[in-house]
Amino acid sequence: MRVIATIEEFRAARAALHGTVGLVPTMGYLHEGHLSLVRRARAENDNVITTIFVNPTQFSPAEDLARYPRDLPRDLALLEAEKVDLVFAPDVAEMYPPGFGTFVDAGPITAPLEGAARPGHFRGVATVVCKLFNITTPHRAYFGQKDAQQTLVIRRMTLDLNLPVEIVVCPIVREPDGLAMSSRNVYLNPEERRAATVLFRALQAAQDRFRAGERNGDALRAAMRAVIDAEPLARADYVSVADLDDLHELEEVTSRALASLAVRIGTTRLIDNCLLEVRGERREARGER
Ligand code: PAF
Repeated sequence: MRVIATIEEFRAARAALHGTVGLVPTMGYLHEGHLSLVRRARAENDNVITTIFVNPTQFSPAEDLARYPRDLPRDLALLEAEKVDLVFAPDVAEMYPPGFGTFVDAGPITAPLEGAARPGHFRGVATVVCKLFNITTPHRAYFGQKDAQQTLVIRRMTLDLNLPVEIVVCPIVREPDGLAMSSRNVYLNPEERRAATVLFRALQAAQDRFRAGERNGDALRAAMRAVIDAEPLARADYVSVADLDDLHELEEVTSRALASLAVRIGTTRLIDNCLLEVRGERREARGER
């Protein structure tokens, strides 16, 4: 496994790869969720590239860029064990040199939910992912369903800009108690960690109501909010039952919907989601949309 920090050196190493390339873009501090993407990429491609870059343009000034967890030696050991071929780990100046001025805006899909709560976030995500696609020129790129809106933004950008990359979305990986794996889980103290299961419990409440026949969007959102409100350490940022394609809030779920939520546990903001589907709920487990 080669670890490369400059675009020029990376392009040379990429040019020497033969066959298909699967890309797993990450911000590091890897967990089983990331590794599930790497394994899927390994299974489906001749070569696997992982990028590790904590992208400053997707953090607002009020967010956790400075304290975002980092552990490059540990990340590299994990990737080596997964037989990754190339790791691209640039610094900020390599990705955003003086004079950098071009950004990618994927349009209305960036507006609701995470986009409303984190202005500018998806502009930073789309920009860095577009740059990473151009630098690594993968055949396929792997993203986690946990960041559901991010996957829609990246699909939109890929389609709109005619980027020759297949986007593969992989299922959420959860801790045994249901908490979705996230690098930010490390911020939680033991009491907060216990409270953080509220996200999964709220989604389960929506799913239970849905399976019992509830199709009203407000009722499903209220079911999630009631679970969050009952947890003293939790504060809901939003709860949503939205259209799977454009994320507008649904009055009634006719076939499928994305139930999603963002919750603050102390100072840590966590997100999670699940698919609500009239028939075949098992599709979510296979990461299909
Ligand atoms: O999902 C992430 O870790 C990041 O948003 C990504 C896609 C690596 C872009 O910085």
